[in-house]
Amino acid sequence: MAAVVLRSPPANVLCRLSCSRSQAAVCFIEKRKIHDITPHGKGGRSSVSGISATVFGATGFVGRYVVNRLGRIGSQIIIPHRADQYDVMYLKPMGDLGQIIFMEWDARDKDAIRQAVQHSNVVVNLIGRQWETRNYRFEDVNVTIPQDIAKAAKEAGVKKFIHLSHLNADIRSPSKYLRTKAVGEEAVREVFPEAVILKPSDIFGREDRFFNHFANMRWFGRAIPLIAMGKKTVKQPVYVVDVAKAIVNSITDPDSSGKTYALVGPNRYILHDLVEYLYSVAHRPFIAYPFPRPLYHLVARFFELNPFEPWTTRDKVDRLHMTDLKLPNLPGFEDLGITPASVEQKAIEVLRRHRRYRWLEAELQETKQPKPFNF
Ligand SMILES: NC(=O)c1ccc[n+]([C@@H]2O[C@H](COP(=O)([O-])OP(=O)(O)OC[C@H]3O[C@@H](n4cnc5c(N)ncnc54)[C@H](OP(=O)(O)O)[C@@H]3O)[C@@H](O)[C@H]2O)c1
Repeated sequence: MAAVVLRSPPANVLCRLSCSRSQAAVCFIEKRKIHDITPHGKGGRSSVSGISATVFGATGFVGRYVVNRLGRIGSQIIIPHRADQYDVMYLKPMGDLGQIIFMEWDARDKDAIRQAVQHSNVVVNLIGRQWETRNYRFEDVNVTIPQDIAKAAKEAGVKKFIHLSHLNADIRSPSKYLRTKAVGEEAVREVFPEAVILKPSDIFGREDRFFNHFANMRWFGRAIPLIAMGKKTVKQPVYVVDVAKAIVNSITDPDSSGKTYALVGPNRYILHDLVEYLYSVAHRPFIAYPFPRPLYHLVARFFELNPFEPWTTRDKVDRLHMTDLKLPNLPGFEDLGITPASVEQKAIEVLRRHRRYRWLEAELQETKQPKPFNF
């Protein structure tokens, strides 16, 4: 497969096409690595930001926001994916004509990883999975694949490598996902010491598996099971757009290299109060009851039998009932020039769809506010 650069119009567009005879008339093969692109233009989607980014995991929840933010400033974006090509087409209009390039890849194929990063000056790793599958364990998704990508990026001379970890990533965590995330951070640093590691708390947004998860619990009965009524857990959710902004700003900020950022929302809430607020925004009755952890695990074990996306898992039960760490020594949003949005400002975006028709347009002022727990 040869890399082909279309010269005009639009200028400097990198296409992964195999050159046919007819195309040969308008394109020519260029083997040089495109690591230095001079930014120009007014800063919109038709300008050139100077960023040529490979975004791994662009088909996920956070991915679409990152592609959108990069596309709107005029970046070239290479999207390795394993989905059907029609399932990723919604990403195409997020950048200017020809600026979003798809390529099929397999996470275990190191050549495919090398090909995906060889023409980029930035690599963003958003690969993740909240549950294990038969083919990919947490070790694969959170450690091996990120390290392989970081290694390929280093070898290709990529300037910025952005890796998404988790705020609560800890080698002693009861959650295997979070333990492997902690190992993944070290594995990435080992091969790409200047990598920027971002540690967001649980992210909320329209397509999330956090607020939507709690809101969907109403389908399993009128009451919401929470370990210790959710009164022993403190959460500090972060808005997905802020995380995407942080990724783009950490690419453009020359001081971010080698740093680890903790990305959290402005307020902390007791889980019980947070879920109560979600139901209040959704105009649904909220009745919580205490559910013992062993019983919760038993129920989750049953859902884990689902060969597709399990609704919950034992690991997820533990993660959702885990208090978010405070990491005051790490830089955060303010160091990237971002003021994070609060749950009160943005939760409606997620929850409007959970309202009954008669409440669809109801004003937020009618909603009881959650009590922030800022201790
Ligand atoms: N969502 C949160 O609340 C949250 C909080 C903190 C940190 N994070 C981290 O942020 C990153 C992005 O999260 P997200 O919520 O956007 O995740 P997501 O919606 O689950 O998307 C994950 C992406 O990774 C890809 N992927 C997963 N396993 C793969 C494999 N074996 N081979 C190839 N591709 C694979 C998925 O591709 P397919 O579409 O083909 O499956 C998808 O594009 C992850 O690293 C996650 O751990 C998320």
